[in-house]
Amino acid sequence: MYPDRVLSGMRPTGAMHLGHYHGVLKNWVKIQHEYECLFMVADWHALTTHYDDTRKLDGHVWDMIIDWLAAGVDPKQTTLFIQSQVPEHAELHLLLSMITPLGWLERVPTYKEQQEKLVDKDLATYGFLGYPLLQAADILIYRANRVPVGEDQVPHIEFTREIGRRFNHLYGREPGFDEKALEAVRKLGHKKARLYMEFRTRYTEQGDSEALEAARALLADAQNLAAADRERVFGYLEGTGKMILAEPHALLTEASRMVGLDGQKMSKSYGNTIALRDDEDTITRKIRTMTTDTSRVRRSDPGEPTRCPVYTFHQIYSDESTREWVQQGCRSAGIGCLECKQPVIEKVIAELRPMREKAQAYLDDPTLVRNVIADGSERARKLASDTLRDVRESMGMLYT
Ligand code: TRP
Ligand code: SF4
Repeated sequence: MYPDRVLSGMRPTGAMHLGHYHGVLKNWVKIQHEYECLFMVADWHALTTHYDDTRKLDGHVWDMIIDWLAAGVDPKQTTLFIQSQVPEHAELHLLLSMITPLGWLERVPTYKEQQEKLVDKDLATYGFLGYPLLQAADILIYRANRVPVGEDQVPHIEFTREIGRRFNHLYGREPGFDEKALEAVRKLGHKKARLYMEFRTRYTEQGDSEALEAARALLADAQNLAAADRERVFGYLEGTGKMILAEPHALLTEASRMVGLDGQKMSKSYGNTIALRDDEDTITRKIRTMTTDTSRVRRSDPGEPTRCPVYTFHQIYSDESTREWVQQGCRSAGIGCLECKQPVIEKVIAELRPMREKAQAYLDDPTLVRNVIADGSERARKLASDTLRDVRESMGMLYT
């Protein structure tokens, strides 16, 4: 079995806003301490819908990375890279395309949804149809078993799992598998190897599940085997062959879906965002002019917090007693909306101040960011080429 590894990615949309922070980045910052993490700028994925204008791409990529770093993604803990800097993704995508039934791609829900939503774009392209397969290659090439994504991406992770399984099924029986597996078993050492073989016989000949468990426990302790050999001895044990690509699972987060200043979903295209780099005056002005419960026309009209976008900010930023104060004051017209917004303004300013300062340091010295990405892309490329080598070998394409 391969070690736990997280991969996630975002299309380069430029500077990040509070919606990105509370929806995704805060979670990345948290899990970077819990798993080995790779975070990727999906610039090829951006091309699938924005192939007609690539002039802004470069700026968007760097702005996004600066904001990841500003939000606390730590390049010492994680591997940050740009998808197109790791061309191995493209080769795996191509190889996987040979075994991908068209129907599987056409059935992915985002395919028709996006085509209907983005009516002004011609998305009847080969690249757009292949969007989920490119994403599958992104994940499978790192043997990432956990993928933190939002609800909307879950079908893509399921699709990835199916592609990985299909690949393993087709090519998992590498030539000379039994010999290689036995060789790996010998590397366990004399005593463990003998025990393993005994357990395996009991399991395969008598269906003894306790023997299977015992063998698994024995392997869990055997740390000296390389990943590929571990796969072989696990596969040999159960007669399934070698798992070349790991099957990933979505890591769903309890992400708070942030509403924008007008109560719709926060999104740059709606012009209702607070950017992570907005300065204090801008933050103050934006929140002071933010939509409130429309039934509070005058100061003396009572309102209803559950109908007010400002209250959703209180749910993210305020403690119990402040929320209590809002509910009371709003429903009784005891407080005004500006008064109600003040604690939110202070909390948002306090949250974003360190991010703005950190982002400024990267803006002042762009080589810092370039170095982070150069290092990350190199690390990613190493991991990716290991997998690709196994993939080629299993397909009989090493040509040595
Ligand atoms: N499709 C993802 C999105 O739109 C971005 C993405 C590309 C991604 N490759 C990935 C996410 C691999 C997770 C893993 O949000
Ligand atoms: Fe919204 Fe607060 Fe005004 Fe009530 S008092 S309408 S919760 S801003």
